[in-house]
Amino acid sequence: MDASERDALTAALRSLPEALARLVGHLGAAELTTPWLPGEWTVAQNVHHLLDSHLHCYLRCRRILVQSGPPVLQSYDQDAWASLPDAASPEIASTVRDLGRLHQRWAALLEGLDPATFERCGLHEETGEISLAGMLRAYVDHGRAHLEQIRRTLAARPAVSPQPLPERFAALLLETDPREAPPKPRTLRPADLPEQGPVWVAVDWSSLNYKDALALTGRGRILKGYPMVPGIDLAGRVLDGGDSAWRPGDAVVVTGRGIGEEHWGGYAALARVQAEWCVPLPPELDPRRAMLIGTAGYTAMLAVMILEDHGLRPGDGEVVVTGAAGGVGGFAVAILAALGHRVIASTGRLEQADYLRGLGAADLIHRDALASEPARALGRSRWAGAVDSVGGGTLASILSQLDRHGTVASCGLAGGAELATTVFPFILRGVNLCGVDSNYCPPPRRAEAWRRLAALPARVLELIDAGTVPLDALPAAAERVLAGAVRGRLVVRVGD
Ligand SMILES: NC(=O)c1ccc[n+]([C@@H]2O[C@H](COP(=O)([O-])OP(=O)(O)OC[C@H]3O[C@@H](n4cnc5c(N)ncnc54)[C@H](OP(=O)(O)O)[C@@H]3O)[C@@H](O)[C@H]2O)c1
Repeated sequence: MDASERDALTAALRSLPEALARLVGHLGAAELTTPWLPGEWTVAQNVHHLLDSHLHCYLRCRRILVQSGPPVLQSYDQDAWASLPDAASPEIASTVRDLGRLHQRWAALLEGLDPATFERCGLHEETGEISLAGMLRAYVDHGRAHLEQIRRTLAARPAVSPQPLPERFAALLLETDPREAPPKPRTLRPADLPEQGPVWVAVDWSSLNYKDALALTGRGRILKGYPMVPGIDLAGRVLDGGDSAWRPGDAVVVTGRGIGEEHWGGYAALARVQAEWCVPLPPELDPRRAMLIGTAGYTAMLAVMILEDHGLRPGDGEVVVTGAAGGVGGFAVAILAALGHRVIASTGRLEQADYLRGLGAADLIHRDALASEPARALGRSRWAGAVDSVGGGTLASILSQLDRHGTVASCGLAGGAELATTVFPFILRGVNLCGVDSNYCPPPRRAEAWRRLAALPARVLELIDAGTVPLDALPAAAERVLAGAVRGRLVVRVGD
């Protein structure tokens, strides 16, 4: 094998999990577990098998590399493995994620090898001698073959005809800067929508985020141009999936990906979107509850996952959540508390103590206690972790008070975009400052975040629910959001 073939094969290994995520990430439980092709594996079995099989191959590669003579490569009964209870489970998100991590490590191993090393061999129990090069070629083909098998399996589903598009639909269309002309709902036709994707979605619900409030009032340069339909979240049903894997009737959620900023968004009862912007509506949620979660809950979950990635575990110490009475903050409090953390809610609204304690906060501090930039580069070590949606002096204070190796997930700027800090928290306490970007989070992580969000107790969603806003009441509701007068989340009724 020469260096160019080695590079091509390792690149193929790196890209396989992403291709798999695109193919299966949107599928619901029934599509994953129904044997659409009689006698063949289900999609879920194919996915779990890929991890089983490639784990074996990874270990075989390592044994060939470290043993002086050719090692015996044990075979395994793949059909028996595929019949174990977990191998048929529709819970594929963690398998896809683990396959991604395995392939990154595998590719990193192979990239570092001299091309001559690929001629080393192992002795397969059933098929005899095989070189590292031959094995690698076979497993890249194996991955591709299973993607193809999944495609064939999905193609065997009964055909579903596209559903008719509505002749007219309601939308909140901003023709110009809303400070010049206050937005009002209008009636549009499908042909009015820009061609921004092949998937037509009947939008039932959206939500009102801080960013939407900035867009609706013209404060903050959120919208990249006019005319524009704002709304960074939407939930609804696919009417026509075009040439994508989405099928009519699929329930989907879109958060971010530029909708309601550079692409027309969720405040219209019909939307055109890219296939990869959509995630399947988790079966545990209905579209309204999904929008109650929306970008805020999803961002909070990503923030918590970042803290976990950096080693935060329940019992490590207090975790502070800022902007706690807002959308991101409320969800962060609830998620962290449910995981067993001792959560301190920072808020300017101490009168919301019952609400915040109901979400799981162990204690509250007034936001002024954190608001100003710290007097000293290092303050008393106080927080094992933090989720911050306020920014500015608050974020600088948190950095100066983080425990050794503590992590803050920075989500927002409700209190300011500037950050005046020193390097001391980083070099003397090894703290981590991590950003959260909900817009362009990779699909497997998005799917995992939504899977975890779907398991939130109903009680949390009921507490966070600040009510429903119709399209024509959005401008006034946006003012209330920016005034910090909304507790929790407002959901927007878009469809009939
Ligand atoms: N990175 C991402 O991907 C991402 C995703 C979603 C949101 N965000 C950002 O996260 C932030 C919060 O979004 P959200 O939807 O949760 O907004 P929200 O519901 O309006 O909540 C914001 C909260 O921030 C606090 N706050 C408001 N003004 C403040 C000020 N001047 N100083 C200190 N605290 C203040 C308030 O909490 P208390 O009343 O409890 O003090 C308010 O409830 C926004 O900046 C938003 O743009 C980022």
